[in-house]
Amino acid sequence: MKLFDVYAVNQISIVKAKGSYVWDDQGQQYLDLYGGHAVISIGHTHPHYVNRITEQLGKIGFYSNSILMPLQEELADKLGKVSGREDYQLFLCNSGAEANENALKLASFANGRKKIVAFRKSFHGRTSLAVAVTDNPDIQAPVNQNPNVIFLPFNDEASLEACFRAQGNDISSVIIEGIQGVGGINEASGSFLQKISGLCKQYGAVFIADGIQCGYGRSGKFFSHDYAGVDADVYTMAKGMGNGFPIAGLLIAPWIKPKHGMLGTTFGGNHLACAAALAVLEVIESEQLMQNAEKIGNYLQSTLKKIPQLQDVRGKGLMIGFDVAEDLKDLRKSLLFNQHIFTGEAKPSVIRLLPSLALRKKDADEFLEAISEEIHTPASSVH
Ligand SMILES: Cc1ncc(COP(=O)(O)O)c(C=O)c1O
Repeated sequence: MKLFDVYAVNQISIVKAKGSYVWDDQGQQYLDLYGGHAVISIGHTHPHYVNRITEQLGKIGFYSNSILMPLQEELADKLGKVSGREDYQLFLCNSGAEANENALKLASFANGRKKIVAFRKSFHGRTSLAVAVTDNPDIQAPVNQNPNVIFLPFNDEASLEACFRAQGNDISSVIIEGIQGVGGINEASGSFLQKISGLCKQYGAVFIADGIQCGYGRSGKFFSHDYAGVDADVYTMAKGMGNGFPIAGLLIAPWIKPKHGMLGTTFGGNHLACAAALAVLEVIESEQLMQNAEKIGNYLQSTLKKIPQLQDVRGKGLMIGFDVAEDLKDLRKSLLFNQHIFTGEAKPSVIRLLPSLALRKKDADEFLEAISEEIHTPASSVH
């Protein structure tokens, strides 16, 4: 049987990984600054993570949500502490799209409304509501097109205000990434997030912070939205949460009340997923990975800014993007095939760095040397 051919694949088969490095089946080593699309948070095959999952698997891997789940309580406790949101409630599911789907549905349950505000260049996932609030018609099937979704320009306070003035009482939720990932590493400004928070409170709409790519410590704070000093009503999380084990979740403000049957999932929050997520948070805390993301991220950004061929170096912590000019359009490929470094991209011309939060200075230096070589800037001039 053939695989359903929907991915543009690099002809590389990875068979081994450790920390910020992976190896292919020919024994070639690669530096991983892509983290399998922002998923690897604590580093590949971290020993604490491997042990915790292995031990759990030897006890019980899965049972449904119809029984007591002390591991879920333990995870909620830890997540409350690390995220600074101990008064929020946790709902666990399996993927980023599912988290956003549940967040949008929950908002509509909470206020009985239908309209959703989303932003240009957003990406929120591929299930029906999540893709309807994603600004990319190419991945929306006709059945996903939803007249209740209003797309506004990103960071445009005037059009947001005008939208609320005109139809604020019909708006169920506003969903926004703190830093747009797939859209090309575009930061929501602090004042824009504050405006969203104020208008949502004023009109009874739900503020949904999509932290799936920019959250979980990647920006140097637990949620990148935290830089604005506001609290969202719902935060969605996935990617880094399980360091590769599929787990996702929603942090839900105390004013939103649960009802039995309102949300649900078969696999969400199973024993193995909770063990993986707990191991991740334990390592984030014990190795101070949010501080590391901020420190190494600042170092990478400030050094990359000195390379004249890279335009508009931007981002926070270890979520970094820059544009490359037309004559460097193959830079990502040459980094991969000449220098053996994985990076991410955003169409048409952005390179994205989304490494593990445990990236070391010497790994960052290896990248800086390699990129200097590829674009023929002497490494000595960027250090
Ligand atoms: C900001 C954001 N939201 C949602 C998603 C969807 O997550 P998943 O692919 O786990 O469904 C992604 C995935 O890239 C994302 O970057």
